[in-house]
Amino acid sequence: MNINLIYKTRTGHTEQLAKAMSSVLNIEPIDIDHPHILGDTDLLIVGTGIYGGRPDQSLLDYLDNLPSNKIKGAAIFSSSVSNKDQTELIVNILKQKNIEVLKTRFSCKGQFLIFGWGHPDLNDLRKAREFAQFILDSIA
Ligand SMILES: Cc1cc2nc3c(=O)[nH]c(=O)nc-3n(C[C@H](O)[C@H](O)[C@H](O)COP(=O)(O)O)c2cc1C
Repeated sequence: MNINLIYKTRTGHTEQLAKAMSSVLNIEPIDIDHPHILGDTDLLIVGTGIYGGRPDQSLLDYLDNLPSNKIKGAAIFSSSVSNKDQTELIVNILKQKNIEVLKTRFSCKGQFLIFGWGHPDLNDLRKAREFAQFILDSIA
């Protein structure tokens, strides 16, 4: 089973979550802003910050451009000051490509200006690792 984790971050929070999850998955997370080649992927884990109530457009474009036959399944996580899941646009793109999306999504509080100060914190990173383990258990 090839697992890849891609993420888009503007202020580093999603990257912290990505690294915590990747330590459990034993993989190197991929920042979509860095040059890379996405290899064969059975399970794609997708992470983003939320900006203006939606995932970053560059991540949506990245997913739009993925060949539909490349990925079998996906899981999604996000970081936002509201800690509300606002990743429906990602789900829609993946489903249009017939990629099965794990129903449970992980959202984490991320500081914005003075709001959500200190998040993601150690407890959030522990929850991120638990979500990674949950994903592994779901595909076992
Ligand atoms: C330009 C901008 C717009 C944002 N808009 C929202 C928003 O609409 N809803 C929300 O809950 N958080 C919003 N946030 C807060 C971010 O989602 C939060 O800080 C998140 O942790 C950022 O992830 P990142 O550090 O990986 O970029 C916004 C942050 C920025 C910088």
